[in-house]
Amino acid sequence: MAPVVVTGANKGLGLEIIVRLLRTDASKTILLGTRSLSNGKAAISRLQERGLDTTNVRILELDVSKMDSVQAAAETVKKGYGGQLDCVYNNAGVVSTTEYEEAKQLMQVNYYGVKRMMEVFDPLIVRGGHDVIVSSGMGAWATYHSPLPLQNLLTEPSKTTPAQLDDLAERYLESLNTHNPSAPELQKEFPISEGMIGPYAVSKAFLNAYVRNIAPSRLEKQGIILSVACPGFCATDLNSNSGPRKASTGARSIVLASQISSEQAGGFFRDGKPANFIERTATFEEMAEDARTVEQGLREAGEIMD
Ligand SMILES: NC(=O)c1ccc[n+]([C@@H]2O[C@H](COP(=O)([O-])OP(=O)(O)OC[C@H]3O[C@@H](n4cnc5c(N)ncnc54)[C@H](OP(=O)(O)O)[C@@H]3O)[C@@H](O)[C@H]2O)c1
Repeated sequence: MAPVVVTGANKGLGLEIIVRLLRTDASKTILLGTRSLSNGKAAISRLQERGLDTTNVRILELDVSKMDSVQAAAETVKKGYGGQLDCVYNNAGVVSTTEYEEAKQLMQVNYYGVKRMMEVFDPLIVRGGHDVIVSSGMGAWATYHSPLPLQNLLTEPSKTTPAQLDDLAERYLESLNTHNPSAPELQKEFPISEGMIGPYAVSKAFLNAYVRNIAPSRLEKQGIILSVACPGFCATDLNSNSGPRKASTGARSIVLASQISSEQAGGFFRDGKPANFIERTATFEEMAEDARTVEQGLREAGEIMD
């Protein structure tokens, strides 16, 4: 049994993914990705406080925004863990305001960070293994709110190449650059840059398009089953714990995506069911109602809820 990697696993959904994996099979090696060693150690202590057996949980220092860190982590996997992985959960993510420098850093984590991970870590995944990309329904909302030409590019993978998506991501960032005289013109191409459909949602829209674009060739050439997972709106530090879902419910959704079949590769999944890559914006009340329904179902099914 090859190990699994979870990025951004020192807290939030990443840590809950590990809780779920440990409760299923504590004998599997889990590499807890964290950009800070001390945060990683604290996370392992938290797992132990919850009564979990962490014998096979190891810290993997990993900052997805830096290629040298991603490559060093891959070297650790090769030298220390046999160089093969069953699954990578690409979970690390951040939010930002529409301020240009902040949005640029966000894109380096949420979009380019995942691409970097896929470039370096996908070759380590065994044939038939999974790479779960943790995205968000907000990516589907940003796609819905995009002007039609952009929407077409984002929803029809055959119409774009990864290089074109990178170019679009750069143009989006430049639309936020107040020092760029072309910014007002560029803003016409992109979803509104404030509120719910800000840089976070846009980064996830580009991420979704990239994964859909690349999934068929990853499956054909490397036998890797790619999927996009939406955890739903969960209470974590990312949103100052305002989400109506429990983090454990979101982690369940992510782990279920690592169990799909190869026929479902490249799909978008929420709570183990196919979701839409383009979706109208939900209200907070709708998301809260959804959380109540899903968690009630889990309670009735006797699934552990903490
Ligand atoms: N919570 C939600 O409602 C929700 C909904 C949809 C999608 N998501 C997605 O779920 C994922 C996890 O979010 P969360 O809610 O669990 O957020 P969170 O509690 O803020 O955790 C984010 C994790 O990502 C890590 N991270 C940030 N930048 C990183 C970098 N450059 N390299 C490596 N790790 C980095 C953080 O590490 P540090 O502790 O070092 O900062 C932390 O471990 C994200 O991709 C997010 O977009 C969340």
